[in-house]
Amino acid sequence: MPAAGQGTRMGDALPKQYLAVAGLPMLRHSLAALAAVARVDRVIAILAPGDARWDAHDWSALAGRVEPLRAGGQTRARSVANALERLAGEASPDDWILVHDAARPCLTPAMVERLLDEVGDDPVGGLLAMPVADTLKREGEPARVGATVPREGLWRAQTPQLFRYALLRRALAEAPAATDESQAVESLGHRPRLVQGDNANFKVTFPEDLALAETILALRRKHA
Ligand code: CTP
Ligand code: MG
Repeated sequence: MPAAGQGTRMGDALPKQYLAVAGLPMLRHSLAALAAVARVDRVIAILAPGDARWDAHDWSALAGRVEPLRAGGQTRARSVANALERLAGEASPDDWILVHDAARPCLTPAMVERLLDEVGDDPVGGLLAMPVADTLKREGEPARVGATVPREGLWRAQTPQLFRYALLRRALAEAPAATDESQAVESLGHRPRLVQGDNANFKVTFPEDLALAETILALRRKHA
């Protein structure tokens, strides 16, 4: 799971992935969700090489299930590509790799299980995504509608995204500007499977998103 991103829209003082959500660093929540899935063999947190904050936190609650890997790059795609490179020799070409955003702390084990179940032995892989429910507007002049964009067939990509090691490595080498793994795999001509995600699995992007994540996690804790 890449964590190397330095939030551009928030978290300038503290990198977004370390902002406190429900009393814990944001990153900790999704790592815990991934670590709770028995079928997931290893959970790797990709850190920026100079990350000084990882070691300041207590990760013992994750019971040795999470391994930090200082392989983060300038972009998300670079971070993932670096990590895959570092896993060469350990990973088999057909091993499944799940890639998740550090900034989606409301992931649950059930969401991960659904992705794994529905992708099954698909030859390509797939991703969690949400069908677009709102009518879409393209801005013309600033803050004025230029056009309505048909929403039929449009999905919002989430993470985790699930692809096989060799395919993903090749895809990222050839599409270094991809903003998700699916885009890189698509650029090789493949058609990844769309698996129903969850609105709770949103990406914390704007400051007000923190409060929403906090509310969701606190509610779950209360009903656990
Ligand atoms: N990421 C990374 N390496 C980077 C940048 C990002 O590993 N150099 C990872 C982080 O896990 C981050 C995720 O990619 O949470 C999503 O990054 P991005 O799509 O850029 O979204 P955010 O960083 O969350 O959003 P923004 O840049 O708009 O703040
Ligand atoms: Mg970013």
